[in-house]
Amino acid sequence: MASAANACSPSFSAANSSVSKPKALSDFYLRFRNINALSLRSKRVGLPVLSFSRIRSPRISASSPQVMDQSVGEASSKAPTIVEVDLGNRSYPIYIGSGLLDQPELLQRHVHGKRVLVVTNNTVAPLYLDKVVDALTRGNPNVSVDSVILPDGEKYKNMETLMKVFDKAIESRLDRRCTFVALGGGVIGDMCGFAAAAFLRGVNFIQIPTTVMAQVDSSVGGKTGINHPLGKNLIGAFYQPQCVLIDTDTLNTLPDRELASGLAEVIKYGLIRDAGFFEWQEKNMPKLMARDPSAMAYAIKRSCENKAEVVSLDEKESGLRATLNLGHGCRHVIPPWLD
Ligand SMILES: NC(=O)c1ccc[n+]([C@@H]2O[C@H](COP(=O)([O-])OP(=O)(O)OC[C@H]3O[C@@H](n4cnc5c(N)ncnc54)[C@H](O)[C@@H]3O)[C@@H](O)[C@H]2O)c1
Repeated sequence: MASAANACSPSFSAANSSVSKPKALSDFYLRFRNINALSLRSKRVGLPVLSFSRIRSPRISASSPQVMDQSVGEASSKAPTIVEVDLGNRSYPIYIGSGLLDQPELLQRHVHGKRVLVVTNNTVAPLYLDKVVDALTRGNPNVSVDSVILPDGEKYKNMETLMKVFDKAIESRLDRRCTFVALGGGVIGDMCGFAAAAFLRGVNFIQIPTTVMAQVDSSVGGKTGINHPLGKNLIGAFYQPQCVLIDTDTLNTLPDRELASGLAEVIKYGLIRDAGFFEWQEKNMPKLMARDPSAMAYAIKRSCENKAEVVSLDEKESGLRATLNLGHGCRHVIPPWLD
C-alpha cells in the first residue's frame, strides 16, 4: 500500500529543541505540558497555526452531562453513556460502556429488516463475532445474520477486499432493508461503511469499534473509504451509521501498541480544542495506560463528545474538521518510541 501523507500533518515546535526520546506515552505527553512551547501547523491544507491560546472551553452539544474527575466511575456502569451526534435527520447515538454487547436491545433497536451482514477480520472474529451474533439474534428469531471475515491489516483496505463484502452480500441475496455491521478497528469500520454506502445505493450500517482509535475517532462522523495504490483513503463516501456501540470490554484484548496509538487520538482532543480534558489527561494518563475501565470510559466519552461537536459543525470537512487529522500524524510518531 502506498503511504501517502495525511491531509493534516502536525509539526511540533518546542521551545527547548533538544527533545530526547520519551520512554512512554505519558512521558511524551508531559513534555507538551509547557503550553507556550507548542505550536501545531497543518502542512498540506494550509490551516492556521494553532496554539494553546486559541483553545476555547469546550461547547459540548452531546447529550451526556459534561463532568470532570467525579464522573470517573459512573461512565463504566452497565447503563450506557449516550453521546448524540447531531446531524438533523441523520443524527445517531453513540453508546459507551462496559458489557454493552450483553445488552441485545441496544443493537436490535437499530436493525431494520431481517437480514444482517457482520463485516470483521480474522483477528477480531474469533474474539467477538459469536458475541455480536448473539446480541443481534437473542430473543429475535426473525433476524438472520451472515458474516464476512476479511484479512487483517491496512494493506487489505483496498478494492479487492471491498469486493469480498459485496460478493458475500450478493451471494446472500441481501436486500435494501439489510444492515451492515462493522466489527473491528478503523480499517474494518472504514471499509464496511463504504460498502454500506455503495451496496444497493445505501443500506443501514452500525459501527461496533474495538480499538481505542476506532472508539474515539474513526467510528464517529461518517467518513468511510478505502485506499488506492497512489494514496490513502482516496476512495470513499461520507455515510453516517445508525448507531455506534462501544463496548469498552473489547479493549481488554487490544495489543499495547494499538492502545498507545489510540491514546494519541485522545490526546489530540485535549490539544486542539478541550483544555479541561487536557488537564484531566495529565492526571489520569497512567490510568489510561493501565486500561483502568472507568478512566477509559470517561476518555472515550469525552473524545466522542468532542468529535460529535466538530462533525455536527462541519460534517464534510470544509474546514474545522480537518483539525481532527492531527492525531493521525501523532500516532505515526509515538508508537516506535514505545517499542
Ligand atoms: N473514518 C475516519 O474518520 C478515520 C479516522 C481515523 C482513522 N481512520 C482509519 O482507521 C484505520 C486505523 O484504525 P485502527 O488504528 O483501529 O487500526 P486497525 O483497524 O488496523 O486495528 C489495529 C489492529 O488491532 C486489531 N484489533 C482490533 N480490535 C481488537 C481487539 N479488541 N482486540 C485485539 N485486537 C484487535 C486489528 O485486527 C488490527 O490488527 C486507518 O485505516 C485510518 O485511515 C479513519
